[in-house]
Amino acid sequence: MKLFNSYDLAGLDLANRVVMAPMTRSRAANGVADVLTERYYSQRATAGLIITEGIAVSRQGTGYLFTPGLYTDDQGQAWRRVTDAVHAAGGRIFAQLWHVGRNSHVSLQEAGAAPVSPVARRAHGVQTYAWTAPGVPGHVATSAPRALATEEVAAIAADFVAAGRRAMQAGFDGVEVHGANGYLFEQFINGELNTRDDRYGGSMENRLRLLLDTIDGLIAAIGARHVGVRISPFGRLYDMHGYDDEAGTWLALAQELGKRNLAYVHLSDQRTLGADCDTSFFVQFRKAYAGTLIVAGGFDRDSAEAALQEGKADLIGFGQPFVANPDLVERMGHGWPLAQARRETLYGLHGATGYTDYPRHAAQEGAAI
Ligand SMILES: Cc1cc2nc3c(=O)[nH]c(=O)nc-3n(C[C@H](O)[C@H](O)[C@H](O)COP(=O)(O)O)c2cc1C
Repeated sequence: MKLFNSYDLAGLDLANRVVMAPMTRSRAANGVADVLTERYYSQRATAGLIITEGIAVSRQGTGYLFTPGLYTDDQGQAWRRVTDAVHAAGGRIFAQLWHVGRNSHVSLQEAGAAPVSPVARRAHGVQTYAWTAPGVPGHVATSAPRALATEEVAAIAADFVAAGRRAMQAGFDGVEVHGANGYLFEQFINGELNTRDDRYGGSMENRLRLLLDTIDGLIAAIGARHVGVRISPFGRLYDMHGYDDEAGTWLALAQELGKRNLAYVHLSDQRTLGADCDTSFFVQFRKAYAGTLIVAGGFDRDSAEAALQEGKADLIGFGQPFVANPDLVERMGHGWPLAQARRETLYGLHGATGYTDYPRHAAQEGAAI
């Protein structure tokens, strides 16, 4: 099967075309990866490529409790132990760099500040995982954001570049800019939400500027072959709505990204995340973008193989199946059944439970992890 064939990702040899999609697990007590993080990712190192959970590029970019960062030396050193463990197990790993924009809560921000966004408009009906009272984690409505000043926007691009440098120092094989799923970059790209009248709003070119400036900054700092980007064309997660010439916006982005020789573009199909997402557009995107394409969302072995055979993607991302199946590649390869994840331990400080305690398939018992 093509799914189990190797792939040359801009000079990085991947053992197969199975990608572990980025998944926030909210297990980093102080925003720092730990020995369980190391174990969790190295258990999953037979994936052709691991993309980490979203990693905040700044305190301001943080939107959920116990998510890790890459903006202090301690955070960088902790990630070095993770990348070493994954590489020792034969794996490849990119860091997903994240700024949530308005999808945050004052209890997560420096001195209780408001979260930031292109405009001061709250995401309706959106919750986050934050402090409901001091010391009490729980689900709360996201806070009202404030609009970023023009000069602050460029500073956010600089935060991504700094985090990208730190990621490479920490031994990552590359970084993925999280431009998907209703977070900061999508808030800027969305023409219904982003009504700014400066160089970051209004026209299509202006709405795409922050993402492209960030990518260009990263390319200059760490090289295009170490930079990927995740986007969700026509995504509707977190109160994002349709807007004029939405297809044209994504096709313009496809054209711009195509000039940049990136490691890859990663499309997020949000339907298994509970959002509407018109994936018929993905085919158009594929035609407009000649580089390596990852598609993720709702795949099993057979649908992944079909997508590869039909030329819809080069690599396939699997999210939820990797939670309870550290050996997902081996299970799919042998046609062994998949274990189901326990939802109550998906997020939060549950230690090893629901994180590193999912066993490999019984047929491999006794084999070293
Ligand atoms: C627990 C969980 C956490 C997730 N966290 C992230 C994240 O940090 N960044 C991101 O881009 N997508 C995130 N996603 C979306 C996944 O990467 C993936 O696109 C989605 O789960 C659909 O794929 P699947 O049907 O194979 O699970 C998350 C999904 C899950 C289930």
